Amino acid sequence: MEQGDSASSHHPGEIDYMELDTIIEEQFIGNKENLIMILQEIQKKYNYLPQASLMYLAEKIDVPISKIFGVGTFYSTFSLEPRGKHIISLCLGTACHVRGAEKVRERIQETLNIRDGQTTEDMRFTLESVRCLGCCSLGPVVRVDDDIHGRVTLDTAGKIVEGYN
Ligand code: FES
Repeated sequence: MEQGDSASSHHPGEIDYMELDTIIEEQFIGNKENLIMILQEIQKKYNYLPQASLMYLAEKIDVPISKIFGVGTFYSTFSLEPRGKHIISLCLGTACHVRGAEKVRERIQETLNIRDGQTTEDMRFTLESVRCLGCCSLGPVVRVDDDIHGRVTLDTAGKIVEGYN
């Protein structure tokens, strides 16, 4: 690897193999049961599981690639598709639904010009609807990454996303 350009910014599609090695070494410890933890760490870094990283992982820990894909597709927390820098989880559970979550979703879709499940062209946001975020009394609820935004209105829906770069 070339010197000087390792840890800085990451461009979509580029894999930092040195860092991947570190993740594998830290999480693996010779135990194939740790596969999920390795995948979690990879996803934390890239927001999805890049195919090249999975191929590399398969070879490195000597696990069939089919098994790794199997785990990656089985758990809904993993994504094999590129996702945005920020994940917007919009709650469409019953409590949020009766308080107008559908309108909030429409407003966010309009603001970002994407549909539910899609990612903006600039790779900033992915919009996903979820069933319940566990804080129904705050409905309608929108989570951006780890931040919970409660009692979202049509007015605040568009503003919330503007707060993330
Ligand atoms: S239904 Fe939306 S947080 Fe529970």
